[in-house]
Amino acid sequence: MAAKLEFNTTEFTLNNGHKIPAVALGTWRATEKDAAKNSVKTALTEGHYRHIDTAAIYGNEEEVGEGIKAANVDRKNIFVTTKLWNSEHKNVENALDESLKKLQLDYVDLYLIHWPVSTNPETKKPYDDHTFVDTWRSLQKIYKEGKKVKAIGVSNFTIKKLEKLLNSEGVDIVPAVNQVEAHPLLTQPELVDYLKSKNIYLEAYSPLGSSDSPLFKNPTIVEIAKKYQVEPAQVLISWAIQRKTVVLPKSVTESRVISNNKTFVLEDEDFEKLNKLSEKDGVVRTCDPDFNNFND
Ligand SMILES: NC(=O)c1ccc[n+]([C@@H]2O[C@H](COP(=O)([O-])OP(=O)(O)OC[C@H]3O[C@@H](n4cnc5c(N)ncnc54)[C@H](OP(=O)(O)O)[C@@H]3O)[C@@H](O)[C@H]2O)c1
Repeated sequence: MAAKLEFNTTEFTLNNGHKIPAVALGTWRATEKDAAKNSVKTALTEGHYRHIDTAAIYGNEEEVGEGIKAANVDRKNIFVTTKLWNSEHKNVENALDESLKKLQLDYVDLYLIHWPVSTNPETKKPYDDHTFVDTWRSLQKIYKEGKKVKAIGVSNFTIKKLEKLLNSEGVDIVPAVNQVEAHPLLTQPELVDYLKSKNIYLEAYSPLGSSDSPLFKNPTIVEIAKKYQVEPAQVLISWAIQRKTVVLPKSVTESRVISNNKTFVLEDEDFEKLNKLSEKDGVVRTCDPDFNNFND
């Protein structure tokens, strides 16, 4: 039974009313010359994407901007996300201006605190007089000015950290999203429920299991892909959308950029198999840098 694959045009509505396309092109490690530029251009043209995810630390904002320009799509029809790096938490407005300049944009649709970690760029250690709550207050101020960002959010925040943020003095904007690792071997059910209760969208990063992914070899995923005559990546991306998360597959391979935005609807039985996959095959987290603590 071949599945009916179609370019995905799903949009979700963020808690401030701004619309977000469900599928974004990821760009982490798209650093070889022209890789980000070409993949962004392909995504926005032949791939019918309307959403690009980058970050200052990826070192490719200039190329992402070139790719957007080369695609020649109306700015108001695309959604661009970038992220504030850890060393810039006391320097938010300048860091954002720098990103906008590199991207050749007047605004981004979404600006995220990349990690809940504020690091002194000189000592490389965490500040003792600044936390992510202070950083969030700076993002709020820029958001309220209404010019450079359409929405603000966080990334890699646990429930505990979100609770701390939301219960802090002077915090009156709820993050629009929390961008975290999510795929069938890391479904994060408690976080999913918590975010739903707060009207915060989950954005699924490393949805294919990142580089050298164990997911492409997982027998259940391979079997489901065979059943629908699609690629394993299309199973993973379709599943993420079906559970109403934004999904950010990365590829610098033209054919994959295009095929990754062609999705289909899984039957309930297969959707449930993927929801429960980690109970059988174990939980896998691929992105867990030393500077962060997911247990806090
Ligand atoms: N906020 C954060 O802290 C954070 C952390 C990690 C990631 N992210 C975001 O999420 C995005 C996605 O995560 P990710 O880059 O870690 O990994 P991913 O999207 O899960 O996987 C990317 C890997 O899968 C390969 N691939 C892509 N499509 C494929 C297909 N159809 N068939 C087989 N292989 C395929 C890619 O190879 P090729 O490129 O060679 O095709 C690449 O090696 C990032 O790019 C970034 O935008 C955010």
